[in-house]
Amino acid sequence: MAGPVTVAICGCGSRGLDAYAPFQTAFPEKMKIVAGADPRPDRLEKLQKLYGVAPDMCFASDDEMLAQPKLADVMIVATMDRTHVKNAAAAMEKGYDVLLEKPISPDLGQCLALREKAHETGRIAVVCHVLRYTRFYAALEEMVRSGQLGRLVTIEASENVGWWHFAHSFVRGNWRRQDETSPMILQKCCHDMDILRWLAGRRCLAVQSFGGLDFFRPENAPAGAAARCCECPARDGCRFDAEKLYLTDPHCGIEHIGPQWPVDVVATDPTPEKLRAALRTGPYGRCVFRCDNDVADHQTVDLLFEGGLTATFTASAFSDTIYRTIKLTGTEGEVWGDMGRQTLTLHRFGQPEEVIDLKDEKGLFSGHGGGDFGLLHSFFDLVLSGGRDALTGVDASVESHVMALAAEHSRARGGETVDLAAFERQALGAEA
Ligand SMILES: NC(=O)c1ccc[n+]([C@@H]2O[C@H](COP(=O)([O-])OP(=O)(O)OC[C@H]3O[C@@H](n4cnc5c(N)ncnc54)[C@H](O)[C@@H]3O)[C@@H](O)[C@H]2O)c1
Repeated sequence: MAGPVTVAICGCGSRGLDAYAPFQTAFPEKMKIVAGADPRPDRLEKLQKLYGVAPDMCFASDDEMLAQPKLADVMIVATMDRTHVKNAAAAMEKGYDVLLEKPISPDLGQCLALREKAHETGRIAVVCHVLRYTRFYAALEEMVRSGQLGRLVTIEASENVGWWHFAHSFVRGNWRRQDETSPMILQKCCHDMDILRWLAGRRCLAVQSFGGLDFFRPENAPAGAAARCCECPARDGCRFDAEKLYLTDPHCGIEHIGPQWPVDVVATDPTPEKLRAALRTGPYGRCVFRCDNDVADHQTVDLLFEGGLTATFTASAFSDTIYRTIKLTGTEGEVWGDMGRQTLTLHRFGQPEEVIDLKDEKGLFSGHGGGDFGLLHSFFDLVLSGGRDALTGVDASVESHVMALAAEHSRARGGETVDLAAFERQALGAEA
């Protein structure tokens, strides 16, 4: 097919419009947005203004856009977690190839049904596991595959969410409740499960998990704390004070980072005045100890892979910055990786240490360590070439979802060991 690939964006939020649409500006020969759907008029206006989408190609909902005849080659599905399958399945039936945000669904039966739908329709369905497209994880995978570590024996990985990021997304924000979106181990860590599965290069057989919601609970509120920060007598001594966080905090205050994520989630085209107004009445101005959140703020998972390879994974809200670390050991060597610092330290046994610096001094790989645009290049190249062999196609992605959902099943049952094949069979039975 000759480029650019035409695109309809379903859900023009932070991912659809802010993370993926800018690819059109950078690579107009690959991507041309021709339609979009979102109930928020400000998002559709932005789509028209920045990307030249015609007003009559902007729709107030997913259903409205999907009721039209096929409008583009591809649909990017970037709505919220629980509508992904509905949107992606309808799009594939209409003949769209699909780029689908993760998680596929918090319901395993639905994940399996979507895999089936992709097979049935023969459409491309790629899931946005952006980490596989980063230089950091690609270098690790190459190291494993090339045999530099010998036979892989263990993996230790951690995801450090960042206390302020956790408060923003998982206490005050969209992903605070399992019944509305997904459990944290799926929502945040299906990426990590996908990376573990990819690096392991073999199927995961069983998991066991512990964890829970420890800190962001009413009993940990400062004495006399109010329900909203703007009315709170304890705000001066509280690092979660919403005005402080979104205006002056070095990690996420507009004074330091400008009008980008996460302040652009609090208010569209944010200014300090708009932020103050949003924090007075909106969800991001609530006390972090008095929200309606229920997702875990720390969780560990033990995993057993084919051939006896073992892995451990820890996710925690309690870190200063956002970063992941990983250590792999093999019969011939070990490697320790810090994604925050973008370094890999390799020890081949009996040889000197080697430090591989993957830093991106020119900022060419921004957006999930380069994963966002790496994913888009790979996806559009696949569509343009008429290929079918995606790095993060729905078949591969479903495996990470089985792992994450089985981990949540285990955590909810005090760490019971879950056999993944049986877990998947049960979900298939329930779906049939
Ligand atoms: N791949 C990644 O690394 C990554 C990172 C962050 C989020 N995500 C995923 O992306 C998805 C979207 O997250 P986000 O941060 O962009 O959230 P968001 O709230 O910014 O965007 C979702 C958008 O969907 C719109 N929407 C709601 N109902 C709709 C409907 N019926 N029809 C059309 N649009 C509708 C909302 O108005 C909003 O603009 C989530 O499922 C999330 O898990 C993935």
